[in-house]
Amino acid sequence: MTEPLALGVLVSGSGSNLQAILDAIADQRLHAECKVVISNRPGVQALSRAQLAHVPTQVIDHKGFANREEFDGQLVRSLRAHGVEWVALAGFMRVLTPVFLDAFADHVVNIHPSLLPAFPGVDAQAQAFSYGVQVTGCTVHFVDVGVDSGPIILQKTVPVLAADTKESLGHRILEQEHLAFVQALELIARGQVKRQHGSRRVQVTEPGKG
Ligand code: GRF
Repeated sequence: MTEPLALGVLVSGSGSNLQAILDAIADQRLHAECKVVISNRPGVQALSRAQLAHVPTQVIDHKGFANREEFDGQLVRSLRAHGVEWVALAGFMRVLTPVFLDAFADHVVNIHPSLLPAFPGVDAQAQAFSYGVQVTGCTVHFVDVGVDSGPIILQKTVPVLAADTKESLGHRILEQEHLAFVQALELIARGQVKRQHGSRRVQVTEPGKG
């Protein structure tokens, strides 16, 4: 049996994706240990969720730093101090610089509420709804210096129904996010996700064929 994935989770808000990760760890559906949850905003629900699960928390308010690089440097030091090897961005609303991405090279994953490369950036669910697409979904991807532009690990589709509102669509996407994020992290924990050198393509192997 391999070591559990030494995970750090960065959050900015309600933390329902964080909750899905913590529940999956508790239920042994995800072979990981959440070492720390760090929020750039004080008082958010994600912090309470982590505390309830007895996971260490920290607030690192980006407003206290002169620039993005200094903020990222502090994030790196804190994550390292907690023994983190993989970082999950779970509704973390800051763009990371190379200071962070070089420190955790190829070990940072994000969940985004659309089928990338469609609708990157904020309000992806509303963007998809307003555009009139008939299928949308969510994407778990490696993080690079762009906005929601890194190599794709896993996607789940969600149909847009005639009766949908932006809110009902967003709710159904969020349900799929929770499944997709846990599934992708479990694939990583089992060593079944491989980057291909010089290619955007991510190879996901089946259990036992890794
Ligand atoms: C999710 O829709 C996620 O895809 C996006 O931000 C939202 C965070 O929701 N990046 P939560 O904080 O996990 O509930």
